[in-house]
Amino acid sequence: MEVVILKSADEVAIYAAKLVGVLLKSEPGAVLGLATGSTPQALYRRLVTNYRDGKISFKNVTSFNLDEYLGVAQDNPQSYRSYMNRELFDLIDIDKQNTFVPDCKDNENPREVGQRYEDRMRLAGGVDLQILGIGGNGHIGFNEPSSSLGSRTRVKTLTRQTLHDNSRLFTKDEFQPKLAMTMGIASIMAARKILLLATGAGKADAVVRMIEGPLTAMCPASILQMHEDATILLDEQAATQLQNRDYYDLAYLQNESLKERFGVFDAD
Ligand code: F6R
Repeated sequence: MEVVILKSADEVAIYAAKLVGVLLKSEPGAVLGLATGSTPQALYRRLVTNYRDGKISFKNVTSFNLDEYLGVAQDNPQSYRSYMNRELFDLIDIDKQNTFVPDCKDNENPREVGQRYEDRMRLAGGVDLQILGIGGNGHIGFNEPSSSLGSRTRVKTLTRQTLHDNSRLFTKDEFQPKLAMTMGIASIMAARKILLLATGAGKADAVVRMIEGPLTAMCPASILQMHEDATILLDEQAATQLQNRDYYDLAYLQNESLKERFGVFDAD
């Protein structure tokens, strides 16, 4: 696990966009795993800017989103499909036919939809780079605490904490879904590289449990300790509870100097 602590959320977005840029330069047809929520918004803004500046193209990219609400139509502004269109897809040159969200219509069997999503990811060659956020309770995707560490795409019931955390995004009259279809923990772990972004003081507790706590289904993000190429990008506020901070800073400096000498160098 590589832990990179930067000064601000802005720097986190810039660094993450740089990694996406490096990947797309060497693999223009890469498969991206994408997240929604507040955290990746700054990254998406940066990617859009880089696209407009002619530095990056998504023409041959395929993408798979982590999750989607159940019972919310795709054209509902609250759906994660709408979020992705608004924040990224409508603003870049990606072919929307190659963008996938695990949406499950009312008349569809969630098991079959989940299986289809897994098959589709496999057919695309698997995810090259998975972008993640982290919930205040340590969830990744909508894999809530106690989710099976071996899980695949399926329906999950959202915890009270997640419903509370996300209630800020719904008006009083809007329906807030309590169920979601989400990539499983094993589906996420199958990505060749993982980049988890966490910013703000509200994430500090989940971050220390993910990085320095025991590997446990009660903090699903702690599974990333087992991934062979996971980078955790934090701002100062999200890093305040880390005990091993000195080491992460030292390792970051060493890795950056290796990257300068030898080009991109993945250290975990
Ligand atoms: C979103 C997702 C979630 C979020 C997490 C953090 O697709 O899978 O795991 O990444 O809930 O959300 P924010 O960034 O809004 O704090």
